[in-house]
Amino acid sequence: MKAVFILLVAGTFTLNAQNKIPVYMDETKPVNERVEDALLRMTTEEKAAMLHAQSKFSSAGVARLGIPENWMTDGPHGIRPEVLWDEWEQAGWTNDSCIAFPALTCLSSTWNKEMSLLYGRSIGAEARYRNKNVLLGPGVNIYRTPLNGRNFEYMGEDPYLAGRMVVPYIKGVQENGVAACVKHYALNNQETNRHTVNVIVDDRALYEIYLPAFKAAVQEGGAWAIMGSYNLYKGQQCCHNRYLLNDILRGEWGFEGVVISDWGGVNDTREAIFHGLDMEFGSWTDGLTDGVSNAYDHYYLALPYLKMIRSGEVGTKELDEKVRRILRLSFLTTMNSKRPYGSFGTEEHALAGRRIAQEGIVLLKNENNILPIDLNVTKRILAVGENAIKMMTVGGGSSSLKAIYEVSPLDGLKQRAGLHAEVLYARGYAGDASRSYNGVKTGQNLSDSRSERELLDEAVSMAKDADIVIFFGGLNKSDFQDSEGTDRKGLELPYNQDKVITELAKANNKLVVVNISGNAVAMPWVNQVPAIVQGWYLGTEAGHALASVLTGDVNPSGKLPFSFPVKLTDNGAHAMGEFPGTKEEVKYNEGIWVGYRRHDAKKIKPLFSFGHGLSYTTFEYGKVSADRKEMTANDKITFTVNVKNTGNREGAEIVQLYIRDLKSSLPRPVKELKGFDKIRLNAGEEKAVTFTIDKEALSYFDADKHEWIAEPGDFEAIIGASSTDIKSKIGFKLK
Ligand code: BGC
Repeated sequence: MKAVFILLVAGTFTLNAQNKIPVYMDETKPVNERVEDALLRMTTEEKAAMLHAQSKFSSAGVARLGIPENWMTDGPHGIRPEVLWDEWEQAGWTNDSCIAFPALTCLSSTWNKEMSLLYGRSIGAEARYRNKNVLLGPGVNIYRTPLNGRNFEYMGEDPYLAGRMVVPYIKGVQENGVAACVKHYALNNQETNRHTVNVIVDDRALYEIYLPAFKAAVQEGGAWAIMGSYNLYKGQQCCHNRYLLNDILRGEWGFEGVVISDWGGVNDTREAIFHGLDMEFGSWTDGLTDGVSNAYDHYYLALPYLKMIRSGEVGTKELDEKVRRILRLSFLTTMNSKRPYGSFGTEEHALAGRRIAQEGIVLLKNENNILPIDLNVTKRILAVGENAIKMMTVGGGSSSLKAIYEVSPLDGLKQRAGLHAEVLYARGYAGDASRSYNGVKTGQNLSDSRSERELLDEAVSMAKDADIVIFFGGLNKSDFQDSEGTDRKGLELPYNQDKVITELAKANNKLVVVNISGNAVAMPWVNQVPAIVQGWYLGTEAGHALASVLTGDVNPSGKLPFSFPVKLTDNGAHAMGEFPGTKEEVKYNEGIWVGYRRHDAKKIKPLFSFGHGLSYTTFEYGKVSADRKEMTANDKITFTVNVKNTGNREGAEIVQLYIRDLKSSLPRPVKELKGFDKIRLNAGEEKAVTFTIDKEALSYFDADKHEWIAEPGDFEAIIGASSTDIKSKIGFKLK
C-alpha cells in the first residue's frame, strides 16, 4: 500500500530504479534547480509539515524523499543537553555533556575577531557532531539597561562592536555545515513582559542602535537563519512582523535564509503566513504555553494553515516560498555531503574556550599593582565568596548547559598556587543554593545555615591573616540575576555582598574583587578596593582562565563592551526612557542615547567606561595622523597611530577609533566607535595601527528621508584606549 502511494505521489521510485540521482539530490546542480525539483515532488501536506515543530527542537523533513529533519539546539554558549521529544524535561542521555564556552559578553570583551572565529568554529563543530543543523545563537540584542536578565548572552551596548564581533562567529559555525540562527530579532532588550510588550522606538534609534548588528550578521556574516523575538513592534509580534521581516530583513537587507520563531513566539496564522515567518517552534506544547494533545498539528502554521489553503482563503505562493527557504537550509546543512563531521567535548574546544576567557577577562582597577599575585612571595591566599565555588555553566534559562566539567575559580586558584601558596576559603555570604537548573543537577550542595553575621565574621577574621584576599562575587544565573525570563531588580549586588566587601577591605588592604556577571553592577566600595576584575561567565575552563590572569601567567587584555554606570539613572533608558514599561508597552524615549552615547552627551562620569580595561604592562600612544585632510563621499580616509609597549612584559592593547561630527543638522553623539584593533606587543615593541573608513562611518540615519546621510562638514577622528581615555584627535573634512 505504502509503495503504491509513493509511486503515485511523486514518481521517485522510477528514478531510483534507474539508478539516477534525482535533481534535488544532485549536488552538482545549481541550488535553485534542486529546490524547484524537490518542491515539485512534494504534497501540500508535506510542505506544511516542514513549517512547524514536530518535537521540542525538531521539525519534519520529507522522509519519503530522503530530506532530513531539521534539528535545532541552544544555544549561544554550548550545545544544550537533550530534552524529551515533547517536553522541556531532560532526556537523561549520558553522551550529551558539552564544552561550555564563555558567555558572549566575554567574547565581545576580547575585541578580537579571531577569538570570535575560533568560538564559532568550535561550537559549530560541537553542534555538528551532535547532529544539530541549526544553532540557536548568537544573540546580538543591544545592552540597553544593566537590568536586562539576558545581557550576558549578548555582545554589549555598541552596534559597531557587536556587528564586528558577530560576523566571524557566524562564519565559524557555518563552516561546519551548521546554520547560525541570530537572535532575537529585534528589540528584545528586557525579559519583563517579553511576550506582551510592544516596543515604541523611533526609526533613528532602530536603525542606528538596535539593527546594525543584525544587519552585519545577515549581510556580512551570511547567517542562514534568524530568530524572531517574543516582543512586539508596531503592535505586531516580532516573529511575524511585516516591518521587521518583510520590509527590512528581506526587503532592505536581501535576507534569503530562514526566519525561525522564538519558542512560543507565534500567535496568529494569517500574520505568520504573510509576514515573513518560515518555521514555527514551541507553540502549544507543555513548555512555554498551555497544551492540547497532538499539539503539533494545532500549530498556527499546521492544520489552521492547511485549512485556509483547502478552503481557498489563501493561496500556496507563501507556502512554496517558505519551503524553498527551508530546502535551501537543508542543502546547506544536512544535505551537504561535503560538510565535516564535527567533534564534541574535545580538549581542543576546552582550550579554545580557555583562550577566549583569558582574552575577555577585564582588569578594571589595579592600584599599586597588587595584581598579579606574585607566587614567589605570597604564602597565604584567602578566597572569599559564593562565586568562588558556584557552578555557572548551569542556569540562566535556555543557554543553560550540562558541561563535561567546570573548573571553579577556587579550584583554578588552588591548582595554580600548587605548592607555592596555601589557598584558604571562606564563604562570606550565602546567595542561591539551587541544586538543579533546567533539570540539570549541579551535584553541589551550597546550602549554609549560618547567619549573615557568622559568615561575615569568619571571612573577616581569616582575611586578617592572609597575604592577599580574593573576593569572588557578583551575580549568578538564577531568576532576577543574569537569567532569561526575569530582569534584575536593581543595580546593586545581591546577598549582602557590599557589606562583606567593605568589611574585607578594612581587614586587609590587599583585596581583589572579581565580579562574576554578565552585567554592570554598582560598586559603592570602589574606592576602598585596590583591584577589581570583571570575570564574566567563563564556561568549562573558568577557574583556569581566572587563575592565569590573577597570577600573571596571562596578561589581561579584555575591555568592557558596555559602560558601568555609577547609578541606574545615569543610564539613558532609566533617565529618559521607560523600563520596564507596562505589560503592554515600553517607550525607548532615550532614542539613540544608549550607553556611552548618553554618558558623553551629559558629561556623566561612568564607574567604568565602555572600552576600558587595564594591562600588567603600559602602552604609550603617538599622535594620530591622516593620509588626507579632506575626503569626498566616494573616498576613503586612513588614520595611523603608533602604539608602544612601555612596560617590561608583553601585552595586548585594544586601540579604538571614534568619529565625531562637529556640526550637524541633527543632534549626534559626541563620538561613536567606528574602528578598533587589538595588537600584541612585546616589551619595548612599537606598532603602527591603521584604520580606514568611508562615508558610512560618518553617517546618521535620517528618519524622514529613510536613508543614511553623511553631511558635508568637519569631523574628528578620535583615538582612545577607552571611550573616556582619549589619546589624540585629528580633524578632517567631508566635502
Ligand atoms: C529563548 C530562545 C531559545 C528558545 C529555545 C526561548 O525561550 O528565548 O533564545 O533559543 O527558547 O530554547
